[in-house]
Amino acid sequence: MDGHDMLLSPAGVDALRTALTRAGYTSDGIAARLGPQATAGVARNDFRAALRATEDRDPLGTLIRLFVGEQVEPEEAVAAALAPLPLADAFAAGLVERYGDGLRMGLDLEPYGTDWWVLSDVPASARPGRPLPAEHVLGIGGATQTLVGATVRRPVETALDLGTGSGVQALHLSTHARRVTATDLSERALRFAATTAALNGQDWELLRGDLVAPVAGRRFDLVVSNPPFVVGPGTTTHVYRDSGRVGDAVGAELAAAAPGLLTEGGTMQYLANWVHVAGEDWGDRVAGWFAGTGLDAWVLQREVADPMAYVNLWLADVGGTVDPQRAAAWLDWFDAHKIEAVGFGIVSLRRGGHDDPVVRVEDLRQRVEPPLGDRIADWFDRQDWLRVRDTDGLLAQRYRAADGLQLRQEATMGDEGWAVDRQVLVMPHGLRWSEEIDPLVLALVGGADGKLPLRDQLALLAAAHDVTVDELAEAAGPIVAHLVERGVIEPVAG
Ligand SMILES: C[S@@+](CC[C@H](N)C(=O)[O-])C[C@H]1O[C@@H](n2cnc3c(N)ncnc32)[C@H](O)[C@@H]1O
Repeated sequence: MDGHDMLLSPAGVDALRTALTRAGYTSDGIAARLGPQATAGVARNDFRAALRATEDRDPLGTLIRLFVGEQVEPEEAVAAALAPLPLADAFAAGLVERYGDGLRMGLDLEPYGTDWWVLSDVPASARPGRPLPAEHVLGIGGATQTLVGATVRRPVETALDLGTGSGVQALHLSTHARRVTATDLSERALRFAATTAALNGQDWELLRGDLVAPVAGRRFDLVVSNPPFVVGPGTTTHVYRDSGRVGDAVGAELAAAAPGLLTEGGTMQYLANWVHVAGEDWGDRVAGWFAGTGLDAWVLQREVADPMAYVNLWLADVGGTVDPQRAAAWLDWFDAHKIEAVGFGIVSLRRGGHDDPVVRVEDLRQRVEPPLGDRIADWFDRQDWLRVRDTDGLLAQRYRAADGLQLRQEATMGDEGWAVDRQVLVMPHGLRWSEEIDPLVLALVGGADGKLPLRDQLALLAAAHDVTVDELAEAAGPIVAHLVERGVIEPVAG
């Protein structure tokens, strides 16, 4: 563990693992114990049925009540549930604390995946009225899950998790990377990550430092980061969300560092916020982060918030009572910089080793069919396919329309009957894109049955519309590239 202290001694970690395993304190074990109704209740933060089902306080019941139901439990029951971990060690680690006439959780111990546990600080929701401390170590949150789902899970030799916190991303990396390195600025977070790793029988290289500083000069096949991306004047109150950088600079800084971090063919994926400035195109701003990096970049904007909603969200996130002066100062900063909104999204970069990288920045707010990581991997594969084909190469190919494509029309009734106003092509699967299309695209996609090379399909269209094949081919080239990029039509092998 590179000398990083853990919350417990190695023997203590073993004892805790024994206790959790013996009790069956895993996601499946808990679901089996509670049954579907109480399990569904827990997912909605309704613990009533779960508490009824665990009243006899056997070790699993006590662990569920303590760490899932956030209850105060009798000391003897907690001691029995954590045995062979001595209660004194659990206190020393901060795992449990005295409260009223019993004990409550002092740290969050969350069963995760099929057989993992993640240790983190207790969330703000479990301590109403008490603001989170500055060094709060985040548990499994919405952003965590977004990055987990978006990560390309292909086997790699080396992977890096920048800003590992409790170590969640590193746990996932360990399933497809031979060696995992994880960094954090916070010594406290590294203690949690070291403990999470040991508890799950993992061995990661853990390094402390600011962003990429601890891995300067080293390269990785895969880099992931859920960094402290919150946008503001650069004030740092909480290490889990504030980078100390002004505005959205942390996203730009990671982009600039990416070429030096990646092996040839390597991928970097991170979450970011970016500002929408009045009179400026947000997409151009974000695309500018990658200029000169030589990397292929695909940026998906998943959410947009107005400043008021944004500030309220992040002030509420740290618990306690919201300070109106701080809210006002934050909003004033947005006003002073003409920031109208903040975008949240996923940046995926690849070091492809070519001198004409593709940089695409787009809105993708719809719900997508998981896992997003597979879609992102496919997108980069399609870019590779497109890169080695000119228009002639594209036209020589046969294509098949994606499964289940739908066409939606809007039309207005006039003197001559229905007049079509808009035609929208909808992909019901994958990224669930929809886009307005013109009759040429409609004809190209409609004719993509995998039988005819595109050039022959165009010849038929040209004859029907009284234009030359060459004229049509010139118009069709970029359209076909776009349709292939999105997977609307797929090249047929052979
Ligand atoms: C949003 S949390 C992400 C935690 C975890 N990786 C996840 O996905 O849930 C950001 C993490 O970055 C760490 N961090 C904050 N500033 C940092 C910096 N300048 N360099 C490295 N890590 C930093 C925080 O301590 C925190 O653990």
